[in-house]
Amino acid sequence: MKPVRVTAPANIAFIKYWGNTDDNLPLNPSISMTLDKCISTTTALLNHEKDSINLKSSDGSYNKLSTADIKGKKAFEHLERIRILAGRKEYVSIESENSFPSNAGIASSASGFAALTAAAVLAYGMHDLFEDKKELSKLVRQSGSGSAARSVYGGFVELTSGKTTDDSYALQLADDNHWELCDVIAVVNHGSKKTPSSEGHRSAHSSPYLNTRLDEMKKRVDLVREAISEKDLEKLGLATEQDTISMHAIMMTSVPPLYYFEPGTIEIIKSVIEWREEGLESYFSIDAGANVHVICERKNADKIHQKVSQIGSVHSIITNKPAQGISILSR
Ligand code: PMV
Repeated sequence: MKPVRVTAPANIAFIKYWGNTDDNLPLNPSISMTLDKCISTTTALLNHEKDSINLKSSDGSYNKLSTADIKGKKAFEHLERIRILAGRKEYVSIESENSFPSNAGIASSASGFAALTAAAVLAYGMHDLFEDKKELSKLVRQSGSGSAARSVYGGFVELTSGKTTDDSYALQLADDNHWELCDVIAVVNHGSKKTPSSEGHRSAHSSPYLNTRLDEMKKRVDLVREAISEKDLEKLGLATEQDTISMHAIMMTSVPPLYYFEPGTIEIIKSVIEWREEGLESYFSIDAGANVHVICERKNADKIHQKVSQIGSVHSIITNKPAQGISILSR
């Protein structure tokens, strides 16, 4: 039997998914852009012994995932879910590597879980499911990484919140050629985050401001959909910044509080606002980590890259364009 090899991109959310229900359904819809320089490549091969997941590091060594850590537990449970769905008995060996530094503190769970799901689905011969991207995104979401469901498609993607497992899925708003946007990621912290997002999604309910965020959501989601369709960077950027701060306000006011910002994060936020005032249009977005995604038009990406590189707290920079979604390399 030949191994199946697929790729999936990570993504940056303009509207962030933060907080879930007891059934792991997102409390709010989210909207993102896929990233062409942050790709996971994953191989799946069936075997008769046991499931295994090996993550290849940039130095060529392998790190075996185990059920002892949260990410490993989620991944092995997900493989079991896919096997049951396929009605098969064989196990699957997974090998995965990232095109971006895995220790750069950039969410790799989106690209990783999307690629793992697609590779396993194809290895078990579920070709129709692979082709039906809406159904595939529902399955990816059940991995526990909602953001991964958005990585099924290329370009600009929405994940619906939904009241049941069947109505939370991703859909493509526009493809990767729609808008020449860039995400210049300023990496200020190489370490992986201390609190996984799965814990944050649960503790969001303890913030007294969660309902305020959810009440504001519909208007902001409509605005971001509109901004993407009209290619209006100011509309998109301002809504993205509001959503970032709104999500971090929930994080910081949850019990226990989550503080992901570092001094470098604030330094870049202030610089982005200054550049904008000087006429260099750019906007910030920050996930569950300290790194800052600077959103700009492609014509300004080199200039932004150069400006970001002059900030002392920045370790490295990754400049992304919108990417295609999950792709098959071989099967
Ligand atoms: O998909 P998860 O469970 O890793 O949560 C995503 C959390 C954020 O990255 C902070 C927001 C988002 O929508 O990508």
